[in-house]
Amino acid sequence: MMWPFDASTESLWLALYLVSFALHAVLVSYVAAGTVYALVAALRRSADPIAERTRDWLPFLLGAGITAGIGPLLFLQLLYQRRFYTANLLMGPRWGAVVPALILGFYALYLAKASEHRRRLALGAGAACFGFVAWSWTELHQVMLDDAGWRAMYAAGERFHLDAAVLPRLAIWAGAMLALFATVAAWPASAAERRRLAALALTGLIICGATSAIALAIRRDFDPAHGWTYLLGIAAIAAALGWGWTAHRPDGPGLSVTTAATTAALLAGAVVREAPRLALIEHGRATAVGSGGLPVFVVTLAVGAAAIAWVVRTVRGAAE
Ligand code: HEM
Repeated sequence: MMWPFDASTESLWLALYLVSFALHAVLVSYVAAGTVYALVAALRRSADPIAERTRDWLPFLLGAGITAGIGPLLFLQLLYQRRFYTANLLMGPRWGAVVPALILGFYALYLAKASEHRRRLALGAGAACFGFVAWSWTELHQVMLDDAGWRAMYAAGERFHLDAAVLPRLAIWAGAMLALFATVAAWPASAAERRRLAALALTGLIICGATSAIALAIRRDFDPAHGWTYLLGIAAIAAALGWGWTAHRPDGPGLSVTTAATTAALLAGAVVREAPRLALIEHGRATAVGSGGLPVFVVTLAVGAAAIAWVVRTVRGAAE
């Protein structure tokens, strides 16, 4: 089988983790980068159809992004149980702050959609909330990896892990988020808008590439990840060329090329991101088989399905 997958149960969880994480990344990238884009347009007071469409879609896509976070969250716990829970407990209430931040961000997006008067304030608050949530996930990721520092963190009662690696990692994410936002936003866009989005995506790709190159040069720890890093590089270059083509001929096939290349880069990037952590997978523990709980699962499934059916009926009734 192709590295990093083998015939173990953990490989199945790993594959599901990577795919569900990639989906989560696309949706939250649209939300985080889209909120900043709409904020800049609101501050410039310019009539911008991309910003208008983005504002309309943001609340729905935040809901979709949060829901798509549940999948990788479950698989992450199966793969790295001890590390995940320890990092959660060490960060404690500061980690729990992501929940009110998300609730605040949700309301801010609705306010930005409904009120022109409060738009800038609402989008500024939304951008701050989503920035905080992205930073928190990056910090949690770093705490999970730093088991040598757990004892010191606990003894000092620290809730923050101010590791220098957090900043370049967030900068890479900021670039990736711009490129992913532009890819999704370009599909319903006009020719002139696609040109602007191409410039945005290329800026994002340059930020990603330059920050990764600087971080690698400083740390001197290049890991080809069994060729996945090369695949990521080739796919990112293909995406950049696709954007160049789109800028040149906005209605040509460039956007399809760049979307396919961005998808390949995202999946390869998910594997490269996971490579340093693979040795830490808890083998033998990562299985739900034999843990029981089937009756509880069946009952919650039925309750969930009934709740969704009720919501659909209510919405249909309101629309009529
Ligand atoms: C707008 C809200 C959110 C944003 C902007 C966001 C952003 C991010 C980012 C940037 C990462 C990657 C961290 C890194 O590699 O350093 C990440 C990872 C992740 N996020 Fe989100 N996220 C959001 C909400 C959520 C929610 C609500 C959930 C759960 C329901 C979730 C689940 C996850 C999981 C499981 C990971 C993987 C963590 C790991 O592998 O260590 N996210 N998120």
